Amino acid sequence: MIDTHCHLSMVVDEDNKIDYAKLDEILRLMANNGVSDAITIGSNLEDSLVSFEIAGKYSNIYCAVGIHPEEVESFDFERLENIVKENIRTGKLVAIGEIGLDYYWRKDNKEEQIKIFKQQIELAKQYNLPIVVHCRDAYGDVLEILKEYAPYNAGGVIHCYSGSIEWAKEVIKLGFLISFTGVVTYPNASNIQEVAKWVDMDKFMMETDSPFLTPVPFRGKKNNPSYVVYTAKYIAELKNKKIEEIDNITTNNAKKLFKLK
Ligand code: NI
Repeated sequence: MIDTHCHLSMVVDEDNKIDYAKLDEILRLMANNGVSDAITIGSNLEDSLVSFEIAGKYSNIYCAVGIHPEEVESFDFERLENIVKENIRTGKLVAIGEIGLDYYWRKDNKEEQIKIFKQQIELAKQYNLPIVVHCRDAYGDVLEILKEYAPYNAGGVIHCYSGSIEWAKEVIKLGFLISFTGVVTYPNASNIQEVAKWVDMDKFMMETDSPFLTPVPFRGKKNNPSYVVYTAKYIAELKNKKIEEIDNITTNNAKKLFKLK
């Protein structure tokens, strides 16, 4: 199984430095639970560089670089493009993300968010990389922008999917996958559970978004990529499938999208 979205750059010690001892431990937990690979996702420029550094240390960790809509202040297109240009050939940089719109936290800078989202879509297309999209309370605008830039030869994913079935149909039509976090296991998430029940096996992937959004039965504890299996088990039950089938197909979906070896 692959955790297609986590934030390993947040695994830090008291001095805010990457805690490699803790990361080693997380990699052991992953191996114990049959989680073969993880993709660590950038949120801002510094974080993207750290993500890339972590991916360089472990053969089964890959990274995405990008500016999250909550971090638009730190946006520097030239620097981001240089990071992509310098590292694209390593095979470790597998996507641009996470990028998108978030009107839950801020509505006052919508235009800035939209501009930066669009610039990063263009960058991804230029380097033929998939995009990892964050969408919160911004379904209309995100869909409009995604349509504007279609087609996507390298594809993409709507991460931490929490929209409707109707909206999912629209993005799947554009060639996107959706991915589920531990939120789907929460009792109040019946709308997401309906989407998970409905979605075709070749159109979704698994993720943790760790250290956030820990799945049941560990809700309340800090999340890590090894817990992705609990979300997958939950979805297997929802879809009335064997866990092995969810594992095989979502792993293939992720390998195909991110072109993992
Ligand atoms: Ni995230």
